[in-house]
Amino acid sequence: MIREEENFEVALLSDDISDEEIIFLLGASDTKAVNALSNRAYEVTTKQVGHDVYFRGLIEISNICTFNCRYCGIRKSNLGLSRYEMSKKEIIELSVWAANHGLGNVCLQSGERQDKKFVDFIAECLKEIHQKTVSEKLPHGLGITLSLGDQEKEVYEMWAEASGNRNNLRYLARFETSNEKLFKFLHSSRGKGKTFEKRLQSLRDLRDCGYQVGTGVMIGIPGQTLADLCADIRMFQSLGVDMIGMGPYLKSAGGDLTSIGQMDSKKLLQLSLNMIAVTRIVLKDVNIAAATALDVLDKDGRKQAISYGANVLMPNPNHVKYKQGYQLYDNKPSVEKDAEEVIEKMAGDVLACKRTPAWSAYGSSLHWKKKAQ
Ligand code: 5AD
Repeated sequence: MIREEENFEVALLSDDISDEEIIFLLGASDTKAVNALSNRAYEVTTKQVGHDVYFRGLIEISNICTFNCRYCGIRKSNLGLSRYEMSKKEIIELSVWAANHGLGNVCLQSGERQDKKFVDFIAECLKEIHQKTVSEKLPHGLGITLSLGDQEKEVYEMWAEASGNRNNLRYLARFETSNEKLFKFLHSSRGKGKTFEKRLQSLRDLRDCGYQVGTGVMIGIPGQTLADLCADIRMFQSLGVDMIGMGPYLKSAGGDLTSIGQMDSKKLLQLSLNMIAVTRIVLKDVNIAAATALDVLDKDGRKQAISYGANVLMPNPNHVKYKQGYQLYDNKPSVEKDAEEVIEKMAGDVLACKRTPAWSAYGSSLHWKKKAQ
């Protein structure tokens, strides 16, 4: 065995992996190395969190946003976009549909707003979702994930109470990159500014309010290095998060970074998969979602992520008219496909990866459960 391969094997099996080793693994590119990496990540997943893959039905409830994140297609200053808000009736109907189709959870996501009307609207939706989805299969009603941006702690608390299901309650708030200079650049346009500190405060507040806390980053942001990605993984560790969702950075015609381009698709896909694998190897017992953005790079992107250690899928049962209004990046898959067909295809992908689709399961993060005991 040549030296390089030996080092790679050592890094993969190391109990106390160093930054140098993480960076080495993240850069895997030849077939042998990436196969060894995905095999190891798959093995760690099986050992740590088992064979099940969990579903969260993703409901993009509104594309109205008060922030101006430069990478994002629904940022406030994108005047070319017509804005929508789903009605409470539509949100409840879709949630009930998800519960009836074996999705144990829904994820409500939207542009960022902090006004009272929005905060109260979410609380009302949560109460009604709970009331309408308690069943034999889901004795505590649907599991809830919220992805609604930074809020005050009282708001997190109010929503947790409204959910009626505190044991199956999650919040996603990516810190996007741990490189603060890069974070500033990405959020440097005029308007309401997003700060790194506020995002970290949110993660702490959410933990205090009992949520399973999820975060994540974008991978392949122009200017981002492998050392930055390694620092992201270290930050996941130090924050002690329960869930991670990461996807490739993709250019967005509605953002204002189009001039800086995007990494080559093939390399970007491999880097994203490597990041998932290394995160699994290092973080072990967290839930890791396969981001929708992976499917932009390859129609089997999310499926491949399962082989690299992801254990959560987020099918989007929304009507196509809303999906088209929720283009965070270009070429988001939003073709008119029957929602049942989408779920069936995902379940087939899970089985093809020799995993088990976990129907009507809450799928709480094991990392969180261990702490809650
Ligand atoms: N490319 C990839 N991911 C993006 N997001 C927003 N814009 C883009 C983009 N251009 C991601 C951010 C955000 C999540 C909701 O969507 O990471 O946290």
